[in-house]
Amino acid sequence: MSQTLAGRRVLVCVCGGVAAVKVPALITELRKRGAEVRVAMTPSAVRFVTPVALRSLSGHPVSWRLFPPTRGRLPAGEEGAGMAHLDLSSWAECNLVVPATANTIARLATGLADEVVSSTLLASTAPILLAPAMETAMWRHRATRANLATLLSRGASVVGPASGRLASGREGEGRMAEPEEILRALEELLLGSGGASANLRGWRVLVTAGGTREPIDPVRYLGNRSSGRTGFALAQEAARRGARVVLVTTVPGEAPPGVEVVLVDTAEEMRQACRERLAETNLVLMAAAVADFRPAEASTSKLHRQGRPTLELELVPTVDVLADLLANRPRGCAVVGFAAETEEVLSRGQAKLRAKRCDMLVANPVTGKHSAMGGAMAEAYLLRPDQPPVRLEWQSKEAMAIRILDAAAALVPPSV
Ligand code: CTP
Repeated sequence: MSQTLAGRRVLVCVCGGVAAVKVPALITELRKRGAEVRVAMTPSAVRFVTPVALRSLSGHPVSWRLFPPTRGRLPAGEEGAGMAHLDLSSWAECNLVVPATANTIARLATGLADEVVSSTLLASTAPILLAPAMETAMWRHRATRANLATLLSRGASVVGPASGRLASGREGEGRMAEPEEILRALEELLLGSGGASANLRGWRVLVTAGGTREPIDPVRYLGNRSSGRTGFALAQEAARRGARVVLVTTVPGEAPPGVEVVLVDTAEEMRQACRERLAETNLVLMAAAVADFRPAEASTSKLHRQGRPTLELELVPTVDVLADLLANRPRGCAVVGFAAETEEVLSRGQAKLRAKRCDMLVANPVTGKHSAMGGAMAEAYLLRPDQPPVRLEWQSKEAMAIRILDAAAALVPPSV
């Protein structure tokens, strides 16, 4: 593990949400990277994770009360000084709010100082990185949006949230970014453009996302269950690393910051949109689930049910977009293919890597409880010619995008 944060002083501000259970792992990882860590907690955070645990992991007393008892013994792990918020705010080089709850975001936006985290941050001039986590309705509420916009306008940074399983068991937007993404965002904040995560600055990256839609008639199409999430996560991560990113997608969605989105429907439209933007591209990430067959002819009027005991569709092969891009790629452009497999994921993926002759292939299982198709999580093998496969465990697609781009960044000659 490289000491990317050696000697950096990070104040971890823990708030009261279920995602606080990930904070111990995050602190451990920060220290492995060489950071010095202090911890402040809101009173509700201590219901989710104990100050004693975070004291052990950070190696320092934890502040969670503005007015800790001064007589008698302090509870184990607690900071004793009455001015902890001022000591911490002058010590910290960077403040990480994790999980950033709707409540704390609101208090910071308003400038309240009624507990240790908000008072410390009100007294701080160091940068703030927020890792929001909350139920989807709270995240989307106009009050939260407005509060967050206020904090952003004052220079705060935000990482996540991702979509996925929430504390309530529901699926939706509001799941805290994975510790690995938080660390990456923190490194970017502390290390700036020279940081390890800005390794795609100056690159042009082309990403495809979603399942293609091959028309049957004006209202129906042949499609698949792809959600486009992997492609969106890749585009977002590439842009965060400084690349100029074009995302050619069949799934409309909010464009990640700094990403140009091109909406298409069919395999042929995807091919054209990609070809038009291929010149000077350094990296192609072909995450789209492109249909292999399409109706030979799309009816110009709606096909009606009456008078048809059966309906036969003649299907013809679609264009192979990946093959077309490989055949026409500019010099120094790496191409990454994806494979969705229902069985023998590794061996089929390896065979596909050889057959398609791409520079890397990401092979995902798409059946069973770890299916990558349509959900927020995935597992995969990263396959490169002449290298052993790398297994990526079940994780969010945002976290997986980081791993894929780490590997992809090493594919292209560094001179580009
Ligand atoms: N692909 C493509 N154009 C197609 C079909 C696939 O560009 N018409 C791309 C996909 O985007 C993916 C890779 O090729 O990056 C592999 O797709 P996959 O469907 O797994 O492979 P196929 O060659 O279609 O093989 P099969 O469906 O037989 O498994």
